[in-house]
Amino acid sequence: MSSNIRPDSMARITTPELANAFIEEQIAEIRAQVGDKKVLLALSGGVDSSVVAALLIKAIGKQLVCVHVNHGLMRKGESEQVIEIFGKELDANLIYIDATDRFLDLLKDVADPETKRKIIGNEFIKVFDEESAKLEGISFLAQGTIYPDILESDGVKAHHNVGGLPEEMAMELVEPVKLLYKDEVRVVGEALGLPHAMVYRQPFPGPGLGVRCLGAITRDRLHALREADAILREEFDNCGLAEKVWQYFIAVPDFKSVGVRDGKRYEGWPAIIRAVNTKDAMTATIEEIPYPVLHKITDRITHEVEGINRVLIDLTPKPIGTIEWE
Ligand code: XMP
Repeated sequence: MSSNIRPDSMARITTPELANAFIEEQIAEIRAQVGDKKVLLALSGGVDSSVVAALLIKAIGKQLVCVHVNHGLMRKGESEQVIEIFGKELDANLIYIDATDRFLDLLKDVADPETKRKIIGNEFIKVFDEESAKLEGISFLAQGTIYPDILESDGVKAHHNVGGLPEEMAMELVEPVKLLYKDEVRVVGEALGLPHAMVYRQPFPGPGLGVRCLGAITRDRLHALREADAILREEFDNCGLAEKVWQYFIAVPDFKSVGVRDGKRYEGWPAIIRAVNTKDAMTATIEEIPYPVLHKITDRITHEVEGINRVLIDLTPKPIGTIEWE
C-alpha cells in the first residue's frame, strides 16, 4: 500500500468477514513488499503494534523480529502478556529486553515531568538502537501507524511517544494498518485471534507509569502504584466498568500522610483514582463510579498494597485538569 490517503471507496471494517478480507489482502501485499528479507518491529504490547505483529507473523513468520523493551514502567502483567502471546502462543521471533534498571537509574531523583519524559523517550531509542545494531540483515522497519496518526502528523507514529523511532533509522517502512481507524484495527486484531483484553486495551501513555508515579520515581512507590492500578483494573473488570470507561488509572503523588494500621502509626502515600470518558482525549468527563465499588477498591488497596494508606478520587473534568497528572 503506497498511498497515505484513504480512498473514499474503502469500506469501514466492521465485521470479521471484512477483517478477514483485509488480512488476506495485507498478507499478499506484505509478502510482495518484503520478499525474503527481515523486518524489525518495536512491540510495545499496545493495540496497534500488537495487531501489526500478529499480521506480520501470519504473513512472513520468523522473518519478523519483534523487540519488546520493558522500561520498568509497564502496568502489572503487560510484558508477561507480550512474552506469553507473541513469544509462546504465536511462536514469534521475539527479543525481550528488561531494561528496568537502566531506566530507573536514569530517572532517580528526577522530579520534573518534561525531563522525565525526555529521559524515557531517549533511553528507549538508545536501547532499541543497541539491540537492532546487534541484528543482521534487517531491511524493513514495521510500525503500528494508524490513520489518525497520519491525519494528525506526518505519518510517523507520534513523536512524543515512546516508540517514536529516530528518523536516522533509514529503513523502508512496513505499515499495514496505516489506513485504518482504531476501531477497525481492533476488529482486525480480533479476527487475527488476539485476546479481547489486548485488542480492547485502554490507551496507555508511552512513558507508562512514569507519568503516574508523580515527582521523582522511587522503586517502592512505583511498585505500590503498579499494584494499586492492578486492583483498580481488576475491580473495574469485575463490575463491568472496564467495558464502559475510556481510561482509568491510579496516580501516586510523592508525599505521605499519617494513618493508623494495627494500632500503630502508619505513614503512607495516597492512591488517586482517575476514571474518564472522552472521544478524542481533548476534553474529558468523569465517570461516576458507584460508591460500593469505590469502597471495595479502597478496602483492597489500603489492605493489600504496601505503602498506601488512603484512596482519593479525582473529580476534575478536562479542561481544567489534563487526563494524566504527570
Ligand atoms: P492528557 O494528560 O494530555 O492526555 O490529557 C491525553 C491522552 O493522551 C495520553 N497520553 C499519551 N499517549 N503517549 C501516548 O501515546 C504519550 O506520551 C502520552 N501522554 C499522554 C493520556 O493517557 C490520555 O489518554
